Amino acid sequence: MENPFGAGLTMQLTGSGPAPMLRRSNRGQSMNQRVAVVTGGVGGLGASICRALADAGRTVVATDLAHRGDAIEAFLDDRNGRDMHFEPMDVSRFEDCADTLSRIAESRGPIDILVNAAGITRDASLRKMSVEQWRSVLSVDLESVFNTCRQVIEPMMQRGFGRIVNISSVNAQTGQFGQTNYAAAKAGMHGFTMSLAREAARKGVTVNSVSPGYVDTEMTRAIRHDIRAQIIESIPVGRIGMPDDIARVVRFLCEDDADYITGANVPVNGGMFMSF
Ligand code: CAA
Repeated sequence: MENPFGAGLTMQLTGSGPAPMLRRSNRGQSMNQRVAVVTGGVGGLGASICRALADAGRTVVATDLAHRGDAIEAFLDDRNGRDMHFEPMDVSRFEDCADTLSRIAESRGPIDILVNAAGITRDASLRKMSVEQWRSVLSVDLESVFNTCRQVIEPMMQRGFGRIVNISSVNAQTGQFGQTNYAAAKAGMHGFTMSLAREAARKGVTVNSVSPGYVDTEMTRAIRHDIRAQIIESIPVGRIGMPDDIARVVRFLCEDDADYITGANVPVNGGMFMSF
């Protein structure tokens, strides 16, 4: 197979699972790093996850909708020398995911880490919910996870290493007024996560979900002001979550030595939903 990094980049390191290849950074320096793809990567949560993974030495490719011009520009401006890149990709379209993810693998190297952080809300009580509101949320929040994982799972299993993290929600565990679509999609993600975790467990690939509570992003800023204030008031730790609260957990699950955690859901919700 052709080495997408050119000649001389073949060194392997020791560690759990096959080590990442010695790769060349975009500044020509050699570095050992794995390739991570983060969908919804220029959003509030996604960008924070990208920075956390890049700070841990990964080459990170954020994907998001091409028309999010301002967010993409802000993401690229905020790199501060981190090895972070952007590729347009619509997670609700299978063919687009196939093309984009294979292009990323060709240009940057095999995808070792996939974080599914793309998500939308179209809140409405069921009695008012349109078919479009239902379908768009199921498509972007749940079908997307099939669309992306389907592309990377086989190569990860063949190489004997992979980390997949699906970003779900506390509302998948509790339900929420106005979110039958979102809660159904995010709860569906857990069944997907556990099933794929079983399929990949013997091949060095872990599959987990992280369930954030209410995090300070555009998504939660769109909630009606009084309802949002009421929700924040109910959070046991007494504050809304910050994107970095979530990113730190994702980074941990993506470490090489987090290899005995799979099929798990990690709640990061400030105590909003406590369970065993
Ligand atoms: N809880 C209880 N009752 C509610 C309610 C709520 N959250 N929202 C509305 N109601 C009540 C109203 O008081 C009203 O009661 P009456 O008929 O007795 O007057 C009735 O329900 C109105 O029902 P509607 O179907 O007309 O609802 P609405 O259109 O007024 O409001 C809604 C629907 C805009 C979705 C609103 O419920 C809402 O904003 N809910 C919160 C949604 C939310 O938390 N979204 C999270 C987005 S962020 C995210 O999802 C990230 C994450 O992972 C956590």
